[in-house]
Amino acid sequence: MVPNISSLSSYILEYQRSCANPTGYWAYVADTFYWRRKYDEVLRWDFEKPEIAWYVNGKLNITENIFERQIYYRRKQVALYWEPNDPGQPARSLTYQELFEATQQFANVLIAQGVRKGDRVAIYMPMVPELVVAMLACARIGAVHSVIFAGFSAQSLAERINDAGARVLITADGGYRGEKTIPIKAIADEAMESTECVERAIVLRRTGESVPMKAGRDYWWHDLKKNAPLVHEAVEVDAEDPLYILYTSGSTGKPKGLVHTTAGYMVYTAHTFRNVFQYEEGDVYFCSADIGWVTGHSYLVYGPLLNGATNVMFEGVPTWPDAGRYWQIIDKYRVNQFYTAPTAIRALMALGMEWLNGKDLGSLKVLGTVGEPINEEAWHWYHDHIGKNKCPIVDTWWQTETGGIMISPLAGIIPTKPSYATLPFVGIQPAIVDDNGNELTGNSVEGNLAIKFPWPGMARTIWGDHERFRHTYFGRFANLYFTGDGVKRDEDGYYRILGRVDDVINVSGHRLGTAEIENAINEHPLVVESAVVAFPHPVKGQGIYAFAICNEFSTGGEAGIRQSVVKTVERIIGPFARPDKVLVVSGLPKTRSGKIMRRILRKIALGEGDDFGDTTTLLDPAVVDEIVTKARAMEAEAG
Ligand code: WT7
Repeated sequence: MVPNISSLSSYILEYQRSCANPTGYWAYVADTFYWRRKYDEVLRWDFEKPEIAWYVNGKLNITENIFERQIYYRRKQVALYWEPNDPGQPARSLTYQELFEATQQFANVLIAQGVRKGDRVAIYMPMVPELVVAMLACARIGAVHSVIFAGFSAQSLAERINDAGARVLITADGGYRGEKTIPIKAIADEAMESTECVERAIVLRRTGESVPMKAGRDYWWHDLKKNAPLVHEAVEVDAEDPLYILYTSGSTGKPKGLVHTTAGYMVYTAHTFRNVFQYEEGDVYFCSADIGWVTGHSYLVYGPLLNGATNVMFEGVPTWPDAGRYWQIIDKYRVNQFYTAPTAIRALMALGMEWLNGKDLGSLKVLGTVGEPINEEAWHWYHDHIGKNKCPIVDTWWQTETGGIMISPLAGIIPTKPSYATLPFVGIQPAIVDDNGNELTGNSVEGNLAIKFPWPGMARTIWGDHERFRHTYFGRFANLYFTGDGVKRDEDGYYRILGRVDDVINVSGHRLGTAEIENAINEHPLVVESAVVAFPHPVKGQGIYAFAICNEFSTGGEAGIRQSVVKTVERIIGPFARPDKVLVVSGLPKTRSGKIMRRILRKIALGEGDDFGDTTTLLDPAVVDEIVTKARAMEAEAG
């Protein structure tokens, strides 16, 4: 098992050791895993190129580290408790042995479909155990999975499938989310209309609704499984062979396929999981994230399973059939560690205390949050009412790009402070830099958050676009990885994440680029141009405010346009990217050089006064008054 840091003094010692001798430290952690061939060198790196390689020439398979390494003593232990969307439906559970067999069998299915090491497999599935099986089966044969969140539209799905060049798509007939049934296969079918690379679709039966199956392309999961053997010997891969691609948003339009490789990601997710959550043998751990995002990859699938943890996986949503759903699950499975997003906490907090009645939360030991800053009010509610004042909260800061948790308390070890991610994980060397890249040393400073030294879990490239990887993350400040976040280090040396400093916004913990939303809005036939800014939203953290120039109105006038703009974004990106407010305007505040002055739009979105500072560089200052007047009218109309 990975080493455990079990006291504040050993954290301080290990932190110093890991920074003074990173390769020694990460070799020490890596040596607790099973290697087919040991690495020759711990780390090779150059942030200029950039080139990062951990455990050079090591050979392994991550599923061998999940299964073979632990199976003799975990055969009968539950790996996955699966709780369905509808509490009236039967729950399922899979032991390590059952998950192992399902993985091997599905690996054989993939092999029979011609999938080989290095091939990309797209996965577009609801939150069911077969999603985990599909990922692990890819890893078993050395294929690269690319999971696409099932809330994405057909167009977004197609774009990602094409970018990854996936040969196989694993999907389902449909999925359940709260009271809704999602027509997953229909969306996948539409996506496959505009993909040339997909040769096969493997379709899991979940809802049982009848769906068209295209002859020669679509096959049922259960049919393919029938003749597949239960034994599959893991394919040996290189430490730096890609494990998966996961798409995320950046400040420009096109989504980025971040590539995570095998060994470093394995070591890092396992080590952070064990230590941040202080997971102990026999504990039951529940991460409410969807596997479509990195949190699900690292802290529902790989990190916990590599530690032999017992996981709870939930198909549904926190507010259905009622707002007590999470608390009921925690009670039912006697959950010890619970990891969720601030947006869920704020939503549940707003629905009142009655949903806690009759729920025994006494099993909880650790609470976690991820994805966005947590405000103090939500922090206290979580701490007092869910943790009953006895559970430390780990506010974990990290990113799709970092692969695992970077700045966070270790539960019960590093003292917490509301809305602070506190201190860096062992081996993580943060730097706060000003806009010119000068490091701001000492305490009580604020600036851009960068990282000085590689860590094993970091992404290695953007699929098919290494130059974009270079300039996005290593081009901003010399010899530093740039996170895109602003940060403050307080008088105690504690870190507080202030939010993005680029054009990325965070809506309910979902990361979206303003350019991506604008591109979607511009697809609307009547929209000439648009600009999107974020505004503070009580539940979502940030909401989306869109300003759109339209040169004519269809029937339904402005209200009709607003609605159809929202529909357009749902269709092009997905329902989770829906703008909260759409204001139809006749112009946007632009400088003479044609640049939109977003700070003015942000102020308007905030409903803030009339002082917009220096507007003399604007081409047409009068446009600001018009927008303000219209924005006020829209607020008044909304009440
Ligand atoms: C962005 C990364 C990490 C998994 C889920 C999101 C924001 C993340 C925190 C936190 C404040 C946070 C940052 C970051 N963020 N965790 N604890 N406190 N902000 O991954 O979709 O790649 O988004 O989420 O702005 O850059 P992601």
